[in-house]
Amino acid sequence: MTDSTIQNRHIVVVDDEQSICEIIASYLSSLGYTIYKAFNADNAIEIIKNRKIDLVLTDIKMPGKSGIDLLRWIKEFNPFLPVIISTGFPTLDTAIKGLKLGAYDYLTKPFHLEEVGQKVLRAMQTCQLEEDNLLFSRLVSLHEVTKVLSSTHDIVELNNRFLDYSVKLSRSNAGALMYLNEAHRLITSVTSPPPFHDSFWDHPTFQSAAMWAIENRESLALNASRNDAPEGIPQLPENVQSYIVFPLKTPKKSLGALNLIRVQDSISFSNVELEITNVLASQASISIENARLYQNIRDNYLKTIRGFALAVEAKDKYTLGHSENVMKYTVVLARHLNLSDGEIEQIKYAGLLHDVGKIGVDEAILNKPGKLSIKEFEQIKQHPDLGCRILSDVPFFDSLIPLIRHHHEYFNGQGYPDGLAKEEIPFGARILSVTDAFEAMTSNRPYRKAMPNEVAYEILSKEKDNQFDPTVVEAFLDVMKVSST
Ligand SMILES: [Fe+2]
Repeated sequence: MTDSTIQNRHIVVVDDEQSICEIIASYLSSLGYTIYKAFNADNAIEIIKNRKIDLVLTDIKMPGKSGIDLLRWIKEFNPFLPVIISTGFPTLDTAIKGLKLGAYDYLTKPFHLEEVGQKVLRAMQTCQLEEDNLLFSRLVSLHEVTKVLSSTHDIVELNNRFLDYSVKLSRSNAGALMYLNEAHRLITSVTSPPPFHDSFWDHPTFQSAAMWAIENRESLALNASRNDAPEGIPQLPENVQSYIVFPLKTPKKSLGALNLIRVQDSISFSNVELEITNVLASQASISIENARLYQNIRDNYLKTIRGFALAVEAKDKYTLGHSENVMKYTVVLARHLNLSDGEIEQIKYAGLLHDVGKIGVDEAILNKPGKLSIKEFEQIKQHPDLGCRILSDVPFFDSLIPLIRHHHEYFNGQGYPDGLAKEEIPFGARILSVTDAFEAMTSNRPYRKAMPNEVAYEILSKEKDNQFDPTVVEAFLDVMKVSST
């Protein structure tokens, strides 16, 4: 162990015999350790609760709480804090009991000071090794966590995961993510479960400390027992022992803050935990910014493509609102069929964009009041393929393409463009086929008036196994509160 490491180490020496306490303290102090003296167990507990302590050296036999009582308390408070017990020869059994309770080592009085120095040094080295191992295992977890975060593009999911990992890695009791809104005010976005709900984080200490961390672009740690908070930040709430806040930032921008707490009667955050959480917060900030950019780009593409869908409807006055309606029916039906959230989102946009290829179909054909010639119908049949070509250059829409391409396939294989049948047709396309047909039948068309819903339901029922997947028709009729016949 280097001298500099010793100088950063804090030891509590506990002995009711003040002279012994002073001798040990001044010897260890001469080796470079920082020493706190306690003449009884209660004094020692106060020091351990309020300071960052690396080792406790305690006498066993003391008035009031014994060294064994103190050892029991320490092992509950912080199982990793090493304790060396000292005892006179007649109580060797007690020393053995102490070892069983988790003491690192023991000293038998009378002892040489060199022996004290050696045992303390060995305990420190072992703890350093354990701390390094702990750091290593946390770094491995951290690496796994940042991999997961960087591959998550959904902001809500990303926030939930980030907070969950932060609370676990730092062994906090609770945490909250706060983000700056456009007016530069902090909004609590995600919090841990009750009792640490949103209003808990409205406390002026958390709000002002989070703002301080954001403005200074650095983390801040506060402890209930120390009054070293920057000016203007009030005391922590009564039930909080320690609190840390990390700014969430990119090189150009401040996004918000990650807040973590430990409740009273728990140990303060260690340096390792602070460092690990700091790295996690930096990595997560990049993932959050990326997810925001990703969502922005996706929203912009969607707006553009929605514009295409509207342009199609502008060409074909009878289909005004058709795509939006198909989208609504499709989402309700997909939910009823218990599709996953991801599949529902996919089918929702496919519903909106299914006819986008009609932009390439002659307007006169789209609006023709009479029956279409074979040649004209051939042109109409091009629209699924055209739609796929329009969307194919936008990576966000890759997963929609099979649904759009096959929304006019028939369950019996008689549809277009590829004549797929039954399970060959993507399930989403079989759903779209039903909702698209229902919406079309119940709207006015150039060649006929809108049908009443009941007539459309009958046609859907009749077309089970022909045009439509019977399971999807049943589900649709069910969701529209019609009993299937
Ligand atoms: Fe279509």
